[in-house]
Amino acid sequence: MNSFILYNPTKLVFGIGETAKISQLVPAKARVLLVYGGGSVKKNGSYDQTIKALGRRKVVEFSGIEANPEYETCLKAVEVIKKNKLDFILALGGGSVIDASKFIAAAALFKGKNPWQILTSYGANVKEALPLGTVLTIPATGSEMNQNSVISRRATTEKLAFASDLVFPKFSVLDPTFTLTLPDRQISNGVVDAFVHVMEQYCTRPSDAPIQDGFSETILRTLVSEGPKALKKKDDIAVRSNIMFSATMALNKLICVGVPEDWATHLIGHEITALYGLDHAQSLAVVMPKLLEYKRASKGDKLVQLGRNVFGISEKSKKAAITKTIEAVANFFKKMKVGTEFADYKIDAKQAPAKVAANVAKHFAALGENADITPADVEKLLKL
Ligand code: NZQ
Ligand code: ZN
Repeated sequence: MNSFILYNPTKLVFGIGETAKISQLVPAKARVLLVYGGGSVKKNGSYDQTIKALGRRKVVEFSGIEANPEYETCLKAVEVIKKNKLDFILALGGGSVIDASKFIAAAALFKGKNPWQILTSYGANVKEALPLGTVLTIPATGSEMNQNSVISRRATTEKLAFASDLVFPKFSVLDPTFTLTLPDRQISNGVVDAFVHVMEQYCTRPSDAPIQDGFSETILRTLVSEGPKALKKKDDIAVRSNIMFSATMALNKLICVGVPEDWATHLIGHEITALYGLDHAQSLAVVMPKLLEYKRASKGDKLVQLGRNVFGISEKSKKAAITKTIEAVANFFKKMKVGTEFADYKIDAKQAPAKVAANVAKHFAALGENADITPADVEKLLKL
């Protein structure tokens, strides 16, 4: 096992009706920017409960954060903060709203000339940030309990991430009833995204880390069993609760400690979203099965372990076990109704690999746990 620091300062407040605790979680004198997206929060109960809990505090609302949050929109929110002298950000929504809020928190106090540098430096130049809290409405990204943020800039077809300990949420409220209004597409997106998050930290190479592997396999098994149930039975709060906690645990700096991490599927997926506008999880479902096939030699031992412990695959031959496991991953995405081919999204599968690889080359020389997936490899694997 490699050396590691395990650090996560986010207070997780889980349960039905727990939004009321915001009255104690947000400082009494806070001047709050309430950030949300296109209006789903007004239908799932989270907005009303949050406003009630904020009581008499000064609250300025900023709505209209897009799915795959836009840089220019975030800059407008920064202006609202400065104009109204606000000092606390409350994000109400999914990964996009939370990521936007993290960027806004850092950009509001950024001393440099161009806040885009927060992203191009991967957060290295973030020296301070406003405090933020979140009320989660879609289990997917884990952003509610991590220090990552992903921001898109449509004008330049870029989608870049940054990370900083300064943007860990101070608290996150997880009420599974808020997820009951999710359309199938977003239920599916969330389950697939969380599944791939675990895979990026687990499916690399054996590193004698049974605790991390055990946590990872439990999260994966839970997603594989509960995900399809959420699509079938729309009001099962136990299923929603388990998916919600799975998604948070999938990317909150726990299962990655001491082990190698991959993230190639995500970094290639971000370029696909930037170029073609696919949902984040859709892009991952296109890349992951192909990447596993391309890397079946170096990932072989973990693929066999995944097959045995998550999908119940007991083939004696290693080659057959790997093949069946990759099939099981792709079939799980399909069962969640997320397409795994460019053609499923009406994208030309002949042209896309080269375009995506060219965009990867603008940002990275090589990807993966062994840093051996070059842009040329990206093109080859996307053609599989
Ligand atoms: O805008 P509104 O009206 O709120 O609608 C949203 C949005 O259209 C809707 N929605 C959210 N909660 C709902 C709901 N609709 C009905 N009922 C509810 N309870 O769902 C749509 C998608 O929301 P979004 O926040 O975009 O989804 P998600 O949570 O999947 O976030 C995706 C973004 O997170 C980034 C992705 O790249 C993408 O930009 N990621 C962030 C990560 C992180 N911070 O650690 C890691 C991830 O890998 C990912 O890259
Ligand atoms: Zn993701």
